[in-house]
Amino acid sequence: MDKRVSKTSIRFQLNGQPAQVQPLPGERLSSTLRERLDTRDVKVGCDAGDCGACTVLVDGAPVCACLTPTHQADGKEVETLSGLMSSDPIATDLSQSFLAHGAAQCGICTPGMMVSSVALLRSNPEPSESDAMDALGGVLCRCTGYRKILAAVCAPTAKVEQPQGQGHSGSDIVRLDGIPKVTGTERFGDDVAPQDTLVLRIIRSPHHHAEFTLGDTQRWVGDTPGVIAVLTAKDIPGKNCFGVIPAFADQPVFAEKTCRFKGEAIAAIVGDAAAIDTFDESTFPVTWQPLADALTPDDALSPKAALLHDQRPGNVMCTGFVTRGSPQVAVDQAEIVVNGTYTTAFVEHAYIEPEAGFAQIVNGRVEVHICTQAPVMNLDALVDILGLAHEKIRIVPTGIGGGFGSKLDLSVQPFLALAAIKTGRAVRMSYSRVESMQSTTKRHPAEINLTIAADSDGQILGINFQGTFNTGAYASWGPTVANRVPVHASGPYFVPHYRAEATAVHTHCAPSGAFRGFGVPQSAIALESELDELALRLDIDPLELRLRNTLTDGVSTITGQVFESGVGIKACLEALKPAWDLARAEVEAFNANHNDARRGVGIASGWYGCGNTSLPNPSTIKCGIRADGALVLHQGAVDIGQGSNTVITQIFAQALGVPVDQVTLVGADTDVTPDAGKTSASRQTFVSGNAARLSASDLRAQILHKVNAAETSSIHFEPSIIRVVDGVQTHEIALAGLQTNADGYVLSAEETYDPPIRPLDENGQGDPYAQFGYAAHLAVVEVDMQLGTTKVIKVIAAQDVGHAINPNLVEGQVEGGVAQGLGMALMEEFLPGRTENLHDYLIPTIGDVPPIETLIVEIPDPHGPFGAKGLGEHALIPTAPAILNAIKHATGVRMTQVPATPARLKAKLKEQNDG
Ligand code: FES
Repeated sequence: MDKRVSKTSIRFQLNGQPAQVQPLPGERLSSTLRERLDTRDVKVGCDAGDCGACTVLVDGAPVCACLTPTHQADGKEVETLSGLMSSDPIATDLSQSFLAHGAAQCGICTPGMMVSSVALLRSNPEPSESDAMDALGGVLCRCTGYRKILAAVCAPTAKVEQPQGQGHSGSDIVRLDGIPKVTGTERFGDDVAPQDTLVLRIIRSPHHHAEFTLGDTQRWVGDTPGVIAVLTAKDIPGKNCFGVIPAFADQPVFAEKTCRFKGEAIAAIVGDAAAIDTFDESTFPVTWQPLADALTPDDALSPKAALLHDQRPGNVMCTGFVTRGSPQVAVDQAEIVVNGTYTTAFVEHAYIEPEAGFAQIVNGRVEVHICTQAPVMNLDALVDILGLAHEKIRIVPTGIGGGFGSKLDLSVQPFLALAAIKTGRAVRMSYSRVESMQSTTKRHPAEINLTIAADSDGQILGINFQGTFNTGAYASWGPTVANRVPVHASGPYFVPHYRAEATAVHTHCAPSGAFRGFGVPQSAIALESELDELALRLDIDPLELRLRNTLTDGVSTITGQVFESGVGIKACLEALKPAWDLARAEVEAFNANHNDARRGVGIASGWYGCGNTSLPNPSTIKCGIRADGALVLHQGAVDIGQGSNTVITQIFAQALGVPVDQVTLVGADTDVTPDAGKTSASRQTFVSGNAARLSASDLRAQILHKVNAAETSSIHFEPSIIRVVDGVQTHEIALAGLQTNADGYVLSAEETYDPPIRPLDENGQGDPYAQFGYAAHLAVVEVDMQLGTTKVIKVIAAQDVGHAINPNLVEGQVEGGVAQGLGMALMEEFLPGRTENLHDYLIPTIGDVPPIETLIVEIPDPHGPFGAKGLGEHALIPTAPAILNAIKHATGVRMTQVPATPARLKAKLKEQNDG
């Protein structure tokens, strides 16, 4: 029972209206606003004042509502984004500016950003970039890289311009789902539950490795007021096992007897909100027996280490492998050989929205409303766990406040569904920041040894790559990482002799999984660093060395795949050449006059195969025309902020031959949208974009066929009529008289696209992807030689996207990717049990991200829709090695461990100074 008794009634003005509440002692203003006053535009990302998502104005001053006791609002004026939008023209102008600049991607940080910005603009209508950085320094964004937010705030009256033409590919139309994000009306995972929904909380392991025994949980429920159910492994009607790759499925919903990582779930309790909010976990009947743990691959590979899974000897989950020729022959023939060992850390996704949702029973079916990147995969997993038929389950994605790979996996879904079934009532939950960081997937830490053999001209003769990846306690996407890395570890270069092996090792850590790049950013750090070492040893300009080795059209990759066109890495490097030459000259001039601070310029390349590796990868898109003339696109590719709602609609409209604004979007929902696959691996623009193109082409053909019109005809949708103009002839299709199908459409189309691949053989030879995208980044840094701190001064990103469907969204993806690459290079390190919140785990703030210039390179891909290539992961891959190479250029020190924290760099500088 909640022992905190509220006796005090307080009154304040909320968005210009009187509000009266009786908060509990110490109740957070964020909680009062969201739960008592239904002001859901106030977002909660951490409940610790670290992320700023909950920023509101109290008497005009921005505060974190999560750190403000509600009692302090007594007699004051509280303003949130929704109120500002209806009362303050500064806010309405700013929302237009955010839209016009593309400053909101997922949108979860946007209310906090906009509220803080309004406070600034009220006192300073024309802020400088530095003013804006100061004002927004307490609000984190994980998607945008902040640059477009700064632009929006510093030009707050920028307006959304009507697109020229029809909004087709190449147009900078504003995101079609943008208005709810900039007005505070977007509904994320924790915003959608009905009032008085039951609340669920998970009991988790406090140990990395332990056995446990549950006591009498039913009796405990009876003794605990407000709690109505406990769920454990015994309550699972189907299999207590899930995994994103069926052959490797190994993770229990609830651990049974043994926990394999800190934060693993053993039980869940369900009750009314007050009881769950104040529940004393020490009363829960469980006893623990801690066991020896292995947190690193070295420990887990030791013969003494306990096996995490009986069927995986030596704790090796799997190995990925690609070979051709003989790297030893290359070494024997080489003029020069370089070798290095590199280590990378666990990286946390740190999306600002923790996992959240609710489940309910509707007409005998389970409905799960959830922030997810993969609704159909979620449904398939729940079929097995719940022991229900597909048609008994519905997944409805909510707004998604960032994903970056981790929201591909199950999190709250099975708990919510089981609780709804057990109680027969709606049940909600949102992970706390700590449990989100403890229990969800991470980027794999890697230890990589890499050798490059080359001739005296810097021509690569061979590469040998050995990587060990800490895959944590359960498989998740570990097999994908192990398979993808060897295919990419050569970089976008021609390598005649090659061997790459990536081994995924189980440890007692949270599972490693998918994170923007699937292991490729780690391998790029090793390769691109050693390429710079090679250039240095041969006294060849690093950019020139790369140009001498790039893949080109008609030249085979290390898997023997030959692209006759579309290979864009050379164009990316050449696009950087003028900036490279200039930056090298500028830092030389700077360094001539400075000793305590040294500047450097670094460069690195990257490539990334779009879609699944060597596996089928289909997307299906449906469209239809209603009798009233409405044109509807069923777009099931979940938009997690990257822009698929907009880009896929642009592709669809272009292929159909109508303006974008005539398309009505139906978003992802397993009841109403066909499977467009998961939002991952940079596949949606390419794969779902192609499915949308095919679907539109089919619909167009049906329309033209009805009136026997030529392919060159134009199509015009009007109320209840389609008008087809064929030269001088105009045809009308009266829709009211046509028969409707089960979906209510008089005409419809549904098409699937699956990229052509040739599976890899036992040597890793084949055509694993139909398309690669390419990138090269240039970074300028300044290093404080005493403190070891690194400031990134500028990044220029040359990005081959084949064809930019929406250039402004391309820039947004690039800037966000660069910011995440910067974080990986310099500050981000998840340490299980230690950095489980956003003040100990650092991500880049608005002051950390430098100006980013995006050079859009367009080398069309023959398979891409209108030539387009995927982009999401490509934007991150070269950033970290470019920064590390810039540090080397500035200081002479090669950082082989990331993040290159000040302490690590200072130690290396001292080592260098000490000789
Ligand atoms: Fe800022 Fe997603 S747009 S966190």
